[in-house]
Amino acid sequence: MRLSERIRYVGVNDMRTTRFESQWTLPFGVSYNSYLVVDEKVALIDTAAAQYEDEFLTNIKAEIGDRRIDYLVVNHMEPDHSALQAAVRRVYPDCEIVTNAKAATMIEGFNGITEGIKVVKEGESLSLGEVSLRFFMVPMVHWPETMVSWCPEEKTLFSGDAFGAFKAVGNSVTDSYSNTFEEYKDEMTRYYASIVGKYGGPVQTALKKVGGLAIGRLCPTHGPVWENRIADVIALYDRLSRYEASRGVCLAYGSMYGNTEKAALALAEALKARGVECAVHNLTAEDYSFALRDVFKYDTLILGSPTYNNGIFPPVRQLMQGVCDRMVKGRRFMAFGSFTWAAASVKLLNEMASAAGFEILGEGTTFKQGFTPDKFDAEALAALV
Ligand SMILES: Cc1cc2nc3c(=O)[nH]c(=O)nc-3n(C[C@H](O)[C@H](O)[C@H](O)COP(=O)(O)O)c2cc1C
Ligand SMILES: [Fe+2]
Ligand SMILES: [Fe+2]
Repeated sequence: MRLSERIRYVGVNDMRTTRFESQWTLPFGVSYNSYLVVDEKVALIDTAAAQYEDEFLTNIKAEIGDRRIDYLVVNHMEPDHSALQAAVRRVYPDCEIVTNAKAATMIEGFNGITEGIKVVKEGESLSLGEVSLRFFMVPMVHWPETMVSWCPEEKTLFSGDAFGAFKAVGNSVTDSYSNTFEEYKDEMTRYYASIVGKYGGPVQTALKKVGGLAIGRLCPTHGPVWENRIADVIALYDRLSRYEASRGVCLAYGSMYGNTEKAALALAEALKARGVECAVHNLTAEDYSFALRDVFKYDTLILGSPTYNNGIFPPVRQLMQGVCDRMVKGRRFMAFGSFTWAAASVKLLNEMASAAGFEILGEGTTFKQGFTPDKFDAEALAALV
């Protein structure tokens, strides 16, 4: 697939894996993007997941025929992009691996390759003939060895997982439809929230570093190639990595017997009646990445949890722990839930939220046993938001 005379897409779509990193559900699939820069020398940038070896090698052959690959540039060592390094070496034995010192140790550790590795440093260039690649280190986006590669002559940034999105790519691969950004925005946010979310600081540093580069084509390792909506994509990453959120509520709950659920739905109704945007997530029915996505999207987090073994109901605790692990900042918080003999969940959730520096709205509401509107004043709670 030709992105330009010199830049080709050789990635693959994965519609079979049900959970990315064995955790994050993939209702729309995911792509593992890989690129060729075809000049006097041929450079391959990153590879793909292990199970796509045949398709990946076929894609390469379709672009370069019998030409050889001179360089395999390794931007990131997570196995969804690095698993086929040995396969590439087998088919193209002379190709030199170009990467940084940290990644080189991981190449040995994961794939046992020690020979033919050229180690590059910050800002170093590699000439391919007419065009070149320049390397910039972006540690902890989201692994320590991560770097990006920039082709100044083509104004193309190979950005690794930065600016990546879940959801397989369409036939054109690029954002050729005017609404591509709107179509991928949620899955880009969910990818960010799940995988990169903890690393807001390093993402900010990386954005400053690449901010001065001329970029007319953004080539991440997942999701579309951005040519038209680059500014929107960068602005979204900037917002997410600063933990900036818009006015609205992520209301997530778990419930065994429906009482906490009834309260959640009553509160959602009351919020909507007040014109507050509110996304509701049942944490026992979907994986928590959807709620995490909305924690990054909205400024208020409301959690509903019954008391369970003197603690928080586990699916709700998992989300709250995920929010704390990602060091989400500046949210407003409220908790509620049913108990039967000794309430604990709301108090514990409030403690976690306080430790995260969140503003606690009210004390939270805990109610004994069955839900009734007189035990849970949804209107009064909605008024606090
Ligand atoms: C395994 C289990 C453990 C529980 N632990 C507690 C507890 O420690 N303290 C308490 O007050 N209630 C406890 N409960 C009772 C629930 O909090 C109570 O049934 C609540 O109404 C459930 O809310 P739900 O209808 O939203 O699931 C427990 C219930 C179960 C099934
Ligand atoms: Fe990664
Ligand atoms: Fe990745």
